[in-house]
Amino acid sequence: MGQFPFTRTTTPKAKPADDSLSFGKVTTDHMFLMNYEEGKGWFDPRIVPYGPLSLDPATSVLHYGQAIFDGLKAFRGDDGQIRLFRADRHAQRFNRSAKLMSMPELPVDVIRDSFEALVGVDADWVPRKAGTSLYLRPTIIATDVMLGVHPSHSYLYFLILSPVGSYYKEGVKPVRILASDAHVRAVKGGTGEAKTAANYAQSLSGQVDAEKAGYTQVLYLDGVHRKYLDEVGTMNIMVKIGDEVITPPLAGTILDGVTRASTLQLMRDWGLKVSERPITIDEVMEAGRNGTLKEMWGTGTAAVVSPVGTLGYKGEDVTINGGQTGELTQKLYDAIVGIQYGRTNDPHGWTSVVKV
Ligand code: COI
Repeated sequence: MGQFPFTRTTTPKAKPADDSLSFGKVTTDHMFLMNYEEGKGWFDPRIVPYGPLSLDPATSVLHYGQAIFDGLKAFRGDDGQIRLFRADRHAQRFNRSAKLMSMPELPVDVIRDSFEALVGVDADWVPRKAGTSLYLRPTIIATDVMLGVHPSHSYLYFLILSPVGSYYKEGVKPVRILASDAHVRAVKGGTGEAKTAANYAQSLSGQVDAEKAGYTQVLYLDGVHRKYLDEVGTMNIMVKIGDEVITPPLAGTILDGVTRASTLQLMRDWGLKVSERPITIDEVMEAGRNGTLKEMWGTGTAAVVSPVGTLGYKGEDVTINGGQTGELTQKLYDAIVGIQYGRTNDPHGWTSVVKV
């Protein structure tokens, strides 16, 4: 790889069949690494064979979770070209997460170059089957070896790749979501808008409870009033009530989802009435009972556009659109996927072709 020092693996792995892919269980042959030290900045970018990291047990990330990540995808189009979806926006969000977690930012072009270089090296790992893609997981961890609680002076950036299929075992079929007033994901002033490890660690107990109760994921409510919709553990949430599409606003507690922004843009392009406003679970449940809740779906890089067929809250379930994927949900899914695979034109220039 011309731009970065590259050590090719001598033991390439067997690639899984495209139709066996779920989410994140397999990684590719190489990874991108780069180090940071205070006073020196980022240095030593390199692509090396995929393998374990060696960390001293006192490394601060292992104790205090100073870690951020992002997630984006590369798609193999019908024309054979590999496209990244909104790489710059993901890079910018990665830097916002870094700032929120007192970590050093990276130049956006270096982040993007690392994406393109590693996908270029492992291009054969981009799966071909419809609905599959190569997931990119850029991450930064604090690497100071010390047990005091303060921001690290050294960091490791790594980028790994994973060929993936659907995130949910349901595939693109509607999922069951449980609105919980027992579990809180984030509060204003906290880390809710950062893609940081801790947000996911603390979501696990709610996830376990939801699964025990027969749901796929938790829909978190705001941490103060416990009544406004925030987000689902792995996706932003949207509802269509009457002819209005409503999604919670970016007010510091939810992630600025790239698929969220992209679907909002598409719906505005289509002239739909779209509101980013606080909405209560009571309003959604009542709309579910009186039939005005037309559709509900989640958006996320991993989840793409995932229909919600059932919403549970306080022991009551409402079924949405007869438990079937709604018309607008399907239209959004098709539009996003069409752009990602290069099947339709890309009016906002969201994709970039990776040179192989
Ligand atoms: C993503 O959609 O990229 C996510 O990060 C969700 C989850 C797999 C953590």
